[in-house]
Amino acid sequence: MITEIGQDISLAAALLRKGALVAIPTETVYGLAANALDIEAVVNIYEAKGRPRFNPLIMHLSSLEAAADYVTDIPSPLRLLAERFSPGPLSYLLPKSSRVPDLITAGSDRVVIRIPAHPMTQELLQQVSFPLAAPSANPFGYVSPVTAAHVLEGLGGKIPYILDGGPCSVGLESTIVGMEGDELVIHRLGGISAEDIYLATGMKPGFSLLHKKPDTPGQLKVHYAPGKPLIQGGISELLLAHAGKKLAVISFTQAWPDVHISKVLSPSGDLHEAASQLFTVLRELDKSDADLILAEDFPDTGIGQAINDRLGRAEGRV
Ligand code: TXA
Ligand code: MG
Repeated sequence: MITEIGQDISLAAALLRKGALVAIPTETVYGLAANALDIEAVVNIYEAKGRPRFNPLIMHLSSLEAAADYVTDIPSPLRLLAERFSPGPLSYLLPKSSRVPDLITAGSDRVVIRIPAHPMTQELLQQVSFPLAAPSANPFGYVSPVTAAHVLEGLGGKIPYILDGGPCSVGLESTIVGMEGDELVIHRLGGISAEDIYLATGMKPGFSLLHKKPDTPGQLKVHYAPGKPLIQGGISELLLAHAGKKLAVISFTQAWPDVHISKVLSPSGDLHEAASQLFTVLRELDKSDADLILAEDFPDTGIGQAINDRLGRAEGRV
C-alpha cells in the first residue's frame, strides 16, 4: 500500500467512511484513526500498531455534547474541566453506553473520551457522523509521532493517508482524568497539568499511573521508548560514570560542553516549549550514532511532571 500525505480533509473523511485507517493531526500527538463503530476498522488499528488487544483505545468526538450518546454519566467535576479545557489536551474516563464497542474499551465498562482542538481534526469530526477511535500513530511502545513525517516512518505502507496538520503544538499525549468515587484521579499525565486541574476544580487530584489492568489506563513499564538506552538523572555524575561512550545529553535550558551530542529543549526555560520538542529530539537521538542518551531531571511542576513521566517510561523506571 502506498501512503499519501496531504491536507485533504474530505478525502480523509471519505476513507474513514469506507473503513480505512487515516492518521490525523491533533494538538498533542498524531492519532491513528478509524470509525470507532466499525469493528473491522478498529481491529485494523490494533494490527497496524502491533498493539495488544487488552490496551483500550481513546474515542475522539467534536464536543462533549456529541459524547452524550456514548456515555451514561458525566460527573460534575469532569463537566467543569471540560468547560475549561475542551477542546484541548484533556481526556475523560467515563462510564460507557452500550453504543461503544467492547473492542474499544478492551472489555471495560468505561471509555476514554477526547475532544481534540486541532482545527483540521475538528473539521474532520464534523464531516463524519461517527466517533473516531485513535491511539497515537506509532508502532506499539515507540515514541509518539508529532509530525506527519514521524507517522510515515512508523506506519508507511500500512495506511493509505496521513492528514498533515503540521507539527503538534503540545507534543505530549493528553492528560487522562476520571473519578473514583468522589475523588478526581489522573490516570496519565500529559498536556494539562495537575495544577491546572486543581485550579479549575478546587479538587486536589489523586494519581493512579501504575496500574496494569485496563480499567485504569494500562501504562506498561517501558513505553514511549526510543530504541537506544536512556538514563535520567544528575548529568555530571552520569557523564563520569559513562566516560568513554558516545553520549547524547538532553537538557532543559543549558547546553553541555564536551559531550558527543547536546540537545537543549528550551533555552528560554519554557516547560511547554520543552514538552513540544521532547519527542522530536528523542527520535533524532535514536537515529544518531550515540551509544547512550542521558536526560536531565526537569522541574517537577506543571507540564514538567509529564516530561519527567515520559523520560521515566523511556528509561523503564516508572
Ligand atoms: O493525546 C492523546 O491522547 C492521543 C491523541 C491521538 O488523541 N492518543 C493517545 O492514545 O495517546 P493512546 O492509545 O496512545 O493512549 C491511550 C491510553 C492508553 O494507555 C490506554 O491504555 C488508555 O489510554 N485507555 C484508553 N481507553 C481506556 C479505558 N477505557 N480504560 C482505561 N484506560 C484506557
Ligand atoms: Mg500511545
